[in-house]
Amino acid sequence: MSAVLLLFSIVFVLPLAIHGDLRVGFYQETCPLAEAITRGTVFAATVLNPGIVPGLVRLHFHDCFVRGCDGSILLDSPTEAEGDTAEKDSPLNGASLRGLEVLDDVKAQLEIACPGTVSCADILAFAARDAASFAGIPYYEVPSGRLDGRISLADEVPHNLPMPFYNLSTLANLFASKGLNLEDLVVLSGAHSMGRAHCPSFHYRLYHFSPTQPQDPSLDPSYANYLKSICPPTVKPLGESSAVPLDAISSNMMTNTFYVALTQHKGLLGTDQLLMSSLPTRKMVRRLAHSPHLWPKMFAEAMVKVGRLTTNEPGEVRKYCRSING
Ligand code: HEM
Ligand SMILES: *[C@@H]1O[C@H](CO)[C@@H](O)[C@H](O)[C@H]1NC(C)=O
Repeated sequence: MSAVLLLFSIVFVLPLAIHGDLRVGFYQETCPLAEAITRGTVFAATVLNPGIVPGLVRLHFHDCFVRGCDGSILLDSPTEAEGDTAEKDSPLNGASLRGLEVLDDVKAQLEIACPGTVSCADILAFAARDAASFAGIPYYEVPSGRLDGRISLADEVPHNLPMPFYNLSTLANLFASKGLNLEDLVVLSGAHSMGRAHCPSFHYRLYHFSPTQPQDPSLDPSYANYLKSICPPTVKPLGESSAVPLDAISSNMMTNTFYVALTQHKGLLGTDQLLMSSLPTRKMVRRLAHSPHLWPKMFAEAMVKVGRLTTNEPGEVRKYCRSING
């Protein structure tokens, strides 16, 4: 009887507990400098390359939406011969990811300070928080204790990450499938108050929106002309395309100007502008556009929620963030 119970608890209860019980200060005893080393390293890197700031916030989101926050976005495809099989090599990620090197740097330092202790998934969660805080989001505590997964599949990316041409119901359904509601969707989309998008991500809005309207009517005409001056009718692969700021008003810091831009029909991504197309989301956008202090706080809370997405797969603390152990 007790053997059965023990077996049950090892097989079922234990893995769930490890993944579910994230807590603030998880490394306080085992690696007290983990968060400070991460923050210092991320800060130094962002001074040299500010693009790392949006890059890290997006990486954490892309990690958490595919298999939960398990560092699966950081794994390299196993071998050249097997092809681009890892999440990071999916076309949706690929050339547009930024900030991967700084995580390797943090990991290398933490393996010296406290070997085999701090997971890559946690490093990414800390780094995303730090990046956001350098961009103007209030510092928030990150519950930690995640384990790194051993699986990363490019094929799992398309149906788990939102695409910029989704309609609002598909987008809302995807977020709901991750336990995130409409308000989370509106608040998290504000991550697009910084960073950039390349022409292929919004090209259809300029040149082939619908059979009768080549240009998206929800796009401000002069903004559309500006975008056309940067993106020619012929699409090139993302890595060879030009990029423009996601926030048409103020793209350096994370501020509510992103929502102000939406009220002016200057959302760059189709999905962002669509937040103005339904009554409940439009009300939220207007509210956030009118109160500069509200959104940063709400964003911090929503990021903690995203950071709690988990899988029940067994995990490990990786030695290198780009490959599984052994
Ligand atoms: C709501 C659905 C979302 C869609 C459809 C979407 C899609 C995209 C696309 C297409 C890009 C530009 C890629 C490129 O052309 O280079 C982008 C960039 C970005 N996304 Fe999202 N995204 C969404 C939600 C989020 C969320 C929830 C976050 C974070 C909390 C986020 C953070 C970012 C950041 C920071 C960038 C800029 C990256 C950089 O400059 O390196 N996105 N997103
Ligand atoms: C949204 O897109 C999905 C998938 O393409 C489609 O099935 C659905 O009918 C669309 N909904 C609306 C309201 O256009």
